[in-house]
Amino acid sequence: MDKPKVVLGVSGGIAAYKACELLRRLTESGHDVRVVPTESSLHFVGAATWSALSGHPVSTEVWNDVHEVPHVRIGQHADLVVVAPATADMLAKAAHGLADDLLTNTLLTARCPVVFAPAMHTEMWEHPATQENVATLRRRGAVVIEPAVGRLTGVDTGKGRLPDPGEIYEVCRRVLARGPVAPDLAGRHVVISAGGTREPLDPVRYLGNRSSGKQGYALARTAVARGARVTLVEANTGLPDPSGADVVRVGTAVQLREAVLKAAEEADVVVMAAAVADFRPAEYVAGKIKKKDGQEPAPLVLVRNPDILAEVAADRAAPGQVVVGFAAETDNVLANGREKLRRKGCDLLVVNEVGERKTFGSEENEAIVLAADGSETPVPHGPKEALADTVWDLVSARLG
Ligand SMILES: Cc1cc2nc3c(=O)[nH]c(=O)nc-3n(C[C@H](O)[C@H](O)[C@H](O)COP(=O)(O)O)c2cc1C
Repeated sequence: MDKPKVVLGVSGGIAAYKACELLRRLTESGHDVRVVPTESSLHFVGAATWSALSGHPVSTEVWNDVHEVPHVRIGQHADLVVVAPATADMLAKAAHGLADDLLTNTLLTARCPVVFAPAMHTEMWEHPATQENVATLRRRGAVVIEPAVGRLTGVDTGKGRLPDPGEIYEVCRRVLARGPVAPDLAGRHVVISAGGTREPLDPVRYLGNRSSGKQGYALARTAVARGARVTLVEANTGLPDPSGADVVRVGTAVQLREAVLKAAEEADVVVMAAAVADFRPAEYVAGKIKKKDGQEPAPLVLVRNPDILAEVAADRAAPGQVVVGFAAETDNVLANGREKLRRKGCDLLVVNEVGERKTFGSEENEAIVLAADGSETPVPHGPKEALADTVWDLVSARLG
């Protein structure tokens, strides 16, 4: 079988050196990679490096090997184009269809999925011009990975850092695995909650649950690969940020509610995968509760937490917003799930059986996705990303 053909576009950002590692990962995992750098990017990494690592000639302009018509052929024959790093300038050119070098010509002739991994200073990223260019590219079906937050060129830190090459590689792998289909969540904003809330009793103790957040993170990673802008509201997972997603950290159910409702105001989809505590201690004791000789501890009084899923479903930010819930059940799994779907008013409910050593913390899951229209989709035992992809298939069909 022919190797999948990948075009690696490299534009002129300081993070161009990280693209060498991305190239290595792609070639070592069996991809045929053609590197197309911009003229500016050669100030950072020279053509010799790209040529030696890829095993192909390298050119920045359309005037070399003209008999092969490279400005058309490279894009036409690609299974994937990934631009990493994508400068503010490159995003602007791509959004406006400019074609003044080999990479921009390639972007216009490619009919395969295209991934942009932007990297720039925070000010450049946040500028309305860049944000509008990103929105245009996403609306047209490109996968634009959100930059990471961290150290930038020089001494400053902020949003704008190129995600780790390994993470960009994973996004490419997922996009290629979906085949030549357009990313179906491109242009959509999805909000995902993940993890388990902790309800403090005193400064050192809390009521918690066993949720690891792995299912929510799998939903975030797969949504990025399907082109969505992802806001991940995470509670106490300790997991590394999934590349390409904006991460909001919370601790308690009340904090999670606030973060989800805020993000949901401009979301197309809300997926509540977090295990939110139903109850919290009625009283928070400011100092550590002490044992007292000869005395039993005071009984623990609990109060109800807000029902965030029901609230999001009842009070949708826009009429077409799709709301997905998760139900973790230990017994009467299906009957309880059907009842919960009716009570919560969401569009889809992912019902899975949980136990001390079942599902929580595992890399795998098994579930039935119940829909408000009465359909039920069983998902066999398998990786959490497979369940996540089934959820996105069902969501995508409902987004219309
Ligand atoms: C040291 C240095 C670092 C730069 N880093 C970035 C960057 O990370 N992101 C960016 O958008 N532009 C960056 N620039 C500016 C771009 O190189 C400049 O906009 C250039 O025109 C981009 O050309 P290209 O998009 O054709 O590669 C940097 C410039 C210099 C001199």
